[in-house]
Amino acid sequence: MNPFQLFKKWYTDELEKSKANIPSACCFSSNGLDGYPNARFVSLKEVKDDAFIITGSLQSRKGLELEKSSKVSLTFWWETTEKQIRIQGNAIKISDTEADTYFNERNKDSKIISLISKQGASIESIDILKKQFTEAETLYKNKDIIKPKNWGGYAIQPIKIECMEFEKSRFHKRTLFQLNGKDWIATILQP
Ligand SMILES: Cc1cc2nc3c(=O)[nH]c(=O)nc-3n(C[C@H](O)[C@H](O)[C@H](O)COP(=O)(O)O)c2cc1C
Repeated sequence: MNPFQLFKKWYTDELEKSKANIPSACCFSSNGLDGYPNARFVSLKEVKDDAFIITGSLQSRKGLELEKSSKVSLTFWWETTEKQIRIQGNAIKISDTEADTYFNERNKDSKIISLISKQGASIESIDILKKQFTEAETLYKNKDIIKPKNWGGYAIQPIKIECMEFEKSRFHKRTLFQLNGKDWIATILQP
């Protein structure tokens, strides 16, 4: 089984059993402009063409960091099925057309927030944004919201994927898949 098949099998199992509100949550780490690793949670949109898709603002801290370095990691902990997945790879910006599709799947409130918020910029009071939200709600009452230019997504193309099954005995089952040309080489790691 290649790592994508294994990921899908484990993820499907977790989604079926999990009671979490956001079971797609995963920790996305990039190289901070200050040299420190920078991690935050995002939601995995899907696994497509052997890449892990995430979306969001292109001009927030992560967007600026990804312009400088595409090297990233994505980490999952699936509480219900007790599995961890660690991915290292390169984040490549998806096309505007692909981003449009993901944007259109968002609910209206999320679309408005994406439109009005300069994610990560400072603001004197959140009330300013709330006022802009109400104004936008009225303006777009009967109108579609088109994806803003600064909103998009990234396809994380992995080079390493480690799948770990947590074991109460502490003999965790760790399999490291490493990309070698077009092939994935699997190695068993000690717990
Ligand atoms: C469970 C969860 C899911 C999130 N999903 C996303 C997401 O899909 N995209 C996104 O840009 N931010 C998401 N966020 C917010 C990010 O953690 C973060 O605050 C935001 O992206 C700004 O990060 P940055 O300043 O490093 O760019 C999520 C946060 C949580 C707690």
